[in-house]
Amino acid sequence: MTATFRILGAEDARAAIPNLSDVLVDCVAGGASLGFMLPFDTKDAEAYWREIAQAIEAGSIILAVAEVDGKVVGTVQVGLASRANQPHRGDLMKLLVHRSARGLGLSRTLMETVEAEAASRGRTLLVLDTATGSPAESIYPRFGWERVGVIPDYAMWPQGGFCGTTLFYKRIG
Ligand SMILES: CC(C)(COP(=O)(O)OP(=O)(O)OC[C@H]1O[C@@H](n2cnc3c(N)ncnc32)[C@H](O)[C@@H]1OP(=O)(O)O)[C@@H](O)C(=O)NCCC(=O)NCCS
Repeated sequence: MTATFRILGAEDARAAIPNLSDVLVDCVAGGASLGFMLPFDTKDAEAYWREIAQAIEAGSIILAVAEVDGKVVGTVQVGLASRANQPHRGDLMKLLVHRSARGLGLSRTLMETVEAEAASRGRTLLVLDTATGSPAESIYPRFGWERVGVIPDYAMWPQGGFCGTTLFYKRIG
């Protein structure tokens, strides 16, 4: 399997909405805490990705994708903090790999791709939060992220019930 990685502009992001939606629906169905509750279907996902395409157009989000055979199977974003006192900071969000493409190293290269783009846009500090106890939580330290701590009962799992969130940061660039 050969995967390619790239940063999408707004137009390419809109063209990729069907594949991006498949990835998001699959991750939520798999139990990932990503801001959505079940039931969550393709229409919900498409509405979300349309908002992201607008944010790319507005310059407030960087979107990276992993493609196999021309089809998006993984993605990650950096939100570019807009406060006047945080021109150097970004929020890493929505690292998603379709269950059919996991364990192949795609998330590592996705992170490298989006971090390099954020650094090229002058960002030197990234932060993220992820559900405590999720597989993702154990992955970020492998990618050089520092664990800050846990906030209990921060959000809910898609099927219900509170989950904590673990905060991380990484200096880049
Ligand atoms: C987290 C996620 C993106 C990982 O994607 P992936 O492409 O399968 O991960 P990779 O194959 O690149 O593996 C990355 C590293 O984590 C390790 N890893 C992968 N899955 C793991 C798991 N379930 N538990 C522990 N470690 C794991 C790999 O061994 C690899 O380590 P290495 O590079 O040091 O060898 C994927 O599981 C996912 O989409 N989960 C649902 C969505 C989610 O929770 N996202 C996080 C939102 S903050």
